[in-house]
Amino acid sequence: MPAITARAPGKVILFGEHAVIYGRPAIAVPVTQIQAKATLLGAPFALAGQVWIYAPDVNLQSDLYQLPESHSFRILFQLIMQELNISRLPALRLRINSSIPVAAGLGSGAAVSVAVLRAISSFVGHPLNDERVCALAYQVEKVYHGTPSGIDNTVIAYARPIYFVKGQPFELLRVSQPFTLVIADSGVKSPTLAAVGGVRTRWQTDPAAFDSLFDQAAAIAREARLMIEKGLPDQLGPLMDENHKILQQIGVSCPELDHLVASARQAGALGAKLSGAGQGGNIIALTNQDKAVDVARALEQTGATRTIITSVASSNG
Ligand code: PMV
Repeated sequence: MPAITARAPGKVILFGEHAVIYGRPAIAVPVTQIQAKATLLGAPFALAGQVWIYAPDVNLQSDLYQLPESHSFRILFQLIMQELNISRLPALRLRINSSIPVAAGLGSGAAVSVAVLRAISSFVGHPLNDERVCALAYQVEKVYHGTPSGIDNTVIAYARPIYFVKGQPFELLRVSQPFTLVIADSGVKSPTLAAVGGVRTRWQTDPAAFDSLFDQAAAIAREARLMIEKGLPDQLGPLMDENHKILQQIGVSCPELDHLVASARQAGALGAKLSGAGQGGNIIALTNQDKAVDVARALEQTGATRTIITSVASSNG
């Protein structure tokens, strides 16, 4: 049987992280420069049902059934076998490579889930559509992130810019003018679960103040959607600055992220904010295309461990 390979992109959240968990809208776009890749090969000399997993980026080399039952790969295989009504898979070797840094707000977990679900379902001759891949990847997100909104698995499974409200059908965004982003990694690892849990505790302590911050983030996300659809992406800069201030008040920024955001603005970015769960991970900066390299260089000189320049292409939604 030939090898099957499936890929999934990373992502950034343009507006509305955290508030999205509390029912407010958010905007996310895929980042195709970084990817998770799952390759499946048959193992003709192994016993049926045996699955060997090799994921060098996270130092994992193991038989699937030697992993704890709560491990994401165990859950993924269980979900897909239930979905396809399969009681035993052929013997397999699964290799996973990912250029998406982990615990950095770029969707590494959801991308691995999406790539693995696609690879396995294709391998057994029942490729799942984006909707099912998205729904199953959400189940895994729930095990790992506590109360995820579902934005990560959605933007990654569909690989298109989205306007997302938890519990509602998502909308594809119409991008009337392309725009350029510089993504910069603070190098500080920040698991989503911890950041999301911290916000929940603070929200429980002072729900009125936090609901007001979430409402402000929602208004920004709605305005940003209009600007993207009208083809006025430069207007997103000040909106990013405002959203960053709200995220600071929500308590998910940190000195490293604030420093990168300030450096991006000093280097000529039109606006910047942290992206994803925060308390580490990445910032995004909006720049004119011809300034992107300068902004990326300035960010590297002031402490970013890695930068990515990406553009959000025009699309009809
Ligand atoms: O996985 P991250 O770090 O990109 O966080 C996703 C955005 C959050 O709003 C913080 C979590 C969620 O489930 O929406």
